[in-house]
Amino acid sequence: MNLEEKLRKIPDFPEAGITFIDITTVLKDPDAFEEVIRQMLEQVKDLDFDIIVGSESRGFIFGAALAFAAHKGFVPVRKPNKLPAETLSIDYDLEYGSNTLEIHRDAIKPGQKVLLVDDLLATGGTANASCKLVEELGGEIVGTSFFIELSGLGGREALKDYEIYRLLEI
Ligand code: PRP
Ligand code: MG
Repeated sequence: MNLEEKLRKIPDFPEAGITFIDITTVLKDPDAFEEVIRQMLEQVKDLDFDIIVGSESRGFIFGAALAFAAHKGFVPVRKPNKLPAETLSIDYDLEYGSNTLEIHRDAIKPGQKVLLVDDLLATGGTANASCKLVEELGGEIVGTSFFIELSGLGGREALKDYEIYRLLEI
């Protein structure tokens, strides 16, 4: 199956000159969605990890599906003020402005081996910040797994300390 053909590319969204990679066309196709999760699982089958961490929002979709398929637990990294128990926060820079992500302080136990999952690696800001939250709680990032890597945006450099698994490079 050609998974790249299942994606929808939307020119000039969210602004002129940007082509948005729309994963919703894959999600609604049961064969394509199953194939993505099957291939992502195959890439990490020899990796020793205890739990999956995924970042709001699209990281929930792929992270939770992969966690279910691998029979591992799932931990959400969320946008601010969503998590009800005690949280750890991280701010990270965007091209213009900054973002904040949070994790429950008791979500990861010291020494736990974590696979970080998201739909897309672009600049690597989201994934790197999520990895830092895990590490601050004493977890060990044993790999990062993405459906898509957008090349040329610095994601690999941002994640140079981590193993990267991905299905498509665009
Ligand atoms: C998108 C995507 C990744 C991130 C990748 O999320 O789902 O999480 O951008 O970009 P980066 O490597 O430059 O950080 P977005 O922040 O658009 O939010 P969403 O997941 O809620 O759609
Ligand atoms: Mg996201």
